[in-house]
Amino acid sequence: MNNRETKIVDERIAEENSMHILVTGGAGFIGSNFIRFMRQKHPDDVLINLDALTYAGNLTNLADVAEGTHYHFVHGNILDRDLVTQVIRQYQVDTIVNFAAESHVDRSIADPLVFVDTNVRGTAALLDVARQTQITRFLQVSTDEVYGSIPGTGHVTEAAPLRPSSPYAASKASADLMALADHHTYGLDVVITRCANNYGPYQYPEKLIPLMIQHGLTGEPLPVYGDGQKKRDWLHVTDHCRAIDLVLRRGQSGSIYNVTGNNEHANLAIVHRIIQQLHIDPQLIQLVPDRLGDDSRYALDATKIRRELGWAPTISFDAGLSETIDWYQAHRGWWERLNTD
Ligand SMILES: NC(=O)c1ccc[n+]([C@@H]2O[C@H](COP(=O)([O-])OP(=O)(O)OC[C@H]3O[C@@H](n4cnc5c(N)ncnc54)[C@H](O)[C@@H]3O)[C@@H](O)[C@H]2O)c1
Repeated sequence: MNNRETKIVDERIAEENSMHILVTGGAGFIGSNFIRFMRQKHPDDVLINLDALTYAGNLTNLADVAEGTHYHFVHGNILDRDLVTQVIRQYQVDTIVNFAAESHVDRSIADPLVFVDTNVRGTAALLDVARQTQITRFLQVSTDEVYGSIPGTGHVTEAAPLRPSSPYAASKASADLMALADHHTYGLDVVITRCANNYGPYQYPEKLIPLMIQHGLTGEPLPVYGDGQKKRDWLHVTDHCRAIDLVLRRGQSGSIYNVTGNNEHANLAIVHRIIQQLHIDPQLIQLVPDRLGDDSRYALDATKIRRELGWAPTISFDAGLSETIDWYQAHRGWWERLNTD
């Protein structure tokens, strides 16, 4: 075979091995970063983004990802089993990555039922359709919050008990249990990732980092809960996407993988970094009453994904945060157009 023929054969093999992935919630923060990441890393995969476009879903997050033979958007709800079944058949989907969720703890405290609908019932509905349509692999995107608050200096492995504190965390823990039950009961090939707090571009400005950057740029007060000493563990969204891709391809069926680079910071310390980079007045910080029942610390042990799959974070928190602040400064139009009421 000459070079050209070899290239054609290689392309055909890649096409035959390509995955047809239903990405739910792909218009949100992590989902849109995941779609962009996958289009670059695995251009032969076919990605179908099913998203209900809630306040957090935004198609402009994917304005640079062209619709065509390898990327399709479908407007719909994961609770709509008929639609999901039809999409799976139409696009010959073999794999599901479930990002679709209500994701904000404050909103779950104000209105927990929508979290049960999407995060619990929605995941259960998707799992059911996955089983009936003989999906090859189902990846459930979960969170470190399912383990609850981790006092002191310890870190939790995947074997730690689930002790969710907020309605959000309880709904995510329930979804994880439904996924594991489907693996145990029906043999559905399920894998679960439990990741630390993500940050990076396209995050809706209700979560700490984009909210503080946005307020800093508009000169509004920076509201920090309690004394600002609650600790969170941060991972750049691209490193999370890389972990999901690895677990999707190489994770052991029925397994859970914690994902973190162990970047623990008190909320107030992060706000001070943002203030420093934006050159704004620290007097803008406003300590506000603590969130109801707020966890003091999350801290994962991610030895398993490092050892089994060779994953490691690639973006340092200093560089990632600095780039994220630059991104929000450069993309003012993106967040000014959002409805943040
Ligand atoms: N953001 C984090 O720090 C973090 C950390 C760990 C895990 N997670 C998990 O990752 C996933 C994505 O988080 P995110 O921060 O990108 O959330 P997000 O709120 O930015 O996006 C959620 C997306 O899901 C869509 N959606 C909501 N309900 C839906 C439904 N019923 N049917 C279809 N689509 C629906 C929304 O329109 C939106 O596009 C969630 O499952 C979340 O629990 C998030």
